[in-house]
Amino acid sequence: VNIGVLTSGGDAPGMNAAVRAVVRQGLAGGHRLVGFRHGFDGILKADYVELHPGSVGGIIDEGGTFLGTGRSPRFELEEGQLAALENLAALDVDGLLVVGGEGSMKGAHALCLRGFPALGIPGTIDNDVYGTEVSIGFDTCLNTILDAVSKLRDTASAHDRVFVVEVMGRKCGALALYSALGGGADFVVIPEDLSHRDQAARAVAYDHRRGKLHTIILVAEGACTADEMVKALSGNVLGHEVRRSVLGYIQRGGHPSARDRILGSRMGAAATDALVGGTSDVMVGVEADRIVFTALEDVITKKKELDLSILDLLATLAL
Ligand code: F6P
Repeated sequence: VNIGVLTSGGDAPGMNAAVRAVVRQGLAGGHRLVGFRHGFDGILKADYVELHPGSVGGIIDEGGTFLGTGRSPRFELEEGQLAALENLAALDVDGLLVVGGEGSMKGAHALCLRGFPALGIPGTIDNDVYGTEVSIGFDTCLNTILDAVSKLRDTASAHDRVFVVEVMGRKCGALALYSALGGGADFVVIPEDLSHRDQAARAVAYDHRRGKLHTIILVAEGACTADEMVKALSGNVLGHEVRRSVLGYIQRGGHPSARDRILGSRMGAAATDALVGGTSDVMVGVEADRIVFTALEDVITKKKELDLSILDLLATLAL
């Protein structure tokens, strides 16, 4: 089988481990591997590389994606998809493995609807993809945020300050929620429960009346900006200065954690086996530490639920 592979959307630590697994598992089975550069645009521009065992040597511990990534507006159009199919046929590619977030899964599904075998591997720091408990990159990103929160707490407590920390996640609050829990934050604001955004100022004022000296508030970018939260707090934190920190793109970089390397390796190999075995139009995922497959149709139409009981736990632990 001639297998194409690409990474698409925002890069996530562990994508390299996934592509490495795809390549090595595929080659071990006697298949040919073609890597497309910078996502679906790589197919449209016939920008590709033949992959050999050495092509993926020494990358398991590297962040980013050695294939490059990108979002392709042209591939969203019928014209782009038809052009991609022509190029795939010209390169003799029989099936495609797509590593990325929900938008990338839509791209894989679009090819399947046109009769071309494709299979998804979830790679996004946001952990917002239906069909898997965890996506590649989420764990590393959480660790990066926790490292930053620890450092911010040092300076927050030295000055008795309130710190508002804005994290990524697009429309999903998973990064904010879990890093708030793991980082011992006092408050979190996520798009899934905006009531907390309105309560934050009152809660912080109350905490200070009780004698709390410093406060860490995490906000998910999908709920509000750090600046908006700082504004909402003004006048409610008498005697305490408020500072903000937008963590930004450092959240996407860095060496993948052990969990993301292992997850990428398992998912990459399982997806390759599935594609070679004739399975298509599904995404590989992990549930209760087991590899599972979910129809791409469900992946792109269903919403992954966030465990909102963690908000209560956070409130109790932040006492
Ligand atoms: O999906 C990953 C992500 O990092 C989001 O958390 C963020 O909103 C977005 O990508 C940023 O995208 P871009 O790289 O296009 O600025």
